[in-house]
Amino acid sequence: MASHPKHGLVTVAQHIIEQQRNHPTATGQFSWLLSGITLATKIIESHVRRAGITNVLGETGESNVQGELVQKLDLIANETIMRCLGYRGNIGILVSEEEDEPRIIKNTSGSGNYVVLFDPLDGSSNIDVNVSIGTIFSILHKREDVWPSDGPEKHVLQPGIRQLAAGYVVYGSSTVLAYTTGDGVHMFTLNPDIGAFVLHQEGVIMPDVGKTYSINEAYRASFPQGIQDYLEWAKTDNYSQRYIGSLVADFHRTLLRGGVFLYPPTKKSPEGKLRLLYEANPMAFLAEQAGGAATDGQHRIMEKTPQHMHERTPLIIGSKSEVERVHQFLEKG
Ligand code: AHG
Ligand code: MN
Ligand code: MN
Repeated sequence: MASHPKHGLVTVAQHIIEQQRNHPTATGQFSWLLSGITLATKIIESHVRRAGITNVLGETGESNVQGELVQKLDLIANETIMRCLGYRGNIGILVSEEEDEPRIIKNTSGSGNYVVLFDPLDGSSNIDVNVSIGTIFSILHKREDVWPSDGPEKHVLQPGIRQLAAGYVVYGSSTVLAYTTGDGVHMFTLNPDIGAFVLHQEGVIMPDVGKTYSINEAYRASFPQGIQDYLEWAKTDNYSQRYIGSLVADFHRTLLRGGVFLYPPTKKSPEGKLRLLYEANPMAFLAEQAGGAATDGQHRIMEKTPQHMHERTPLIIGSKSEVERVHQFLEKG
């Protein structure tokens, strides 16, 4: 794991092109697509940094397909990504947490072979109180075995093992981008002086052990018994508890420090709260690429075949040995 590039400054654009070289079949199409995402996150970051003074705080007064109150910054982030990706020419379908249906891009000059799924702003409840939030993305290739007459769903509802790339940007004390194309996890920090994401860590490996669990214990009474038993055990084994309430920030800490993040089924969200396509799958790809694990308590997240776009799933993600320990309690529970 190179903690700093061997030679000077490496931007994410350069890194993506170098990564392309490892995929002889890949074309520049892919790096062009990813540069659309990084551009969008730089624009979102500029809004996030000035939220308090540009009146983008607070709610829009509307609810989204999830039945959740939509924050102004959710919509700004959504429109920013749609605008930056809509004209890249090689994306066929865009799926957003903030939109009921997939957006089909018609003006694809080239192939329109890619599907990009995203949570434009994750951790919305933290926007107004200046706590870290983020953007999450996942990239699929359109399926070959689909008739033009078939709707977009078949291209969208693919298991996470079919992801070509996944990543997130966390807007925290610094703005950090992490992404994988299946050759490890690489991290970049936005240098505001030059407006570029600069490589600071290649081949990030998640520590295999981490005595930190991350869960919203307010819902403890409605967790499955095995989860309650695990929490009791962890407390007696000197674990610490950390919970930011933004998946991106809680996952970023887990990726770097080890530990386990859990969002189990609750009475309020019997299927779990987090969405499979654009929250659990991208984080699972990153976790596994860093040597960690991600399950729904029974199955590997990346092997679940989605039944619908905004499908929710329970999520247990983090250091392999910590996830396995949770499973031991679930099996006994
Ligand atoms: P979003 O803001 O995109 O809806 O995501 C919020 C999610 C996730 O970021 C976080 O882990 C979880 O909601 C927190 O849920 P609770 O407030 O129920 O703990
Ligand atoms: Mn989210
Ligand atoms: Mn969101």
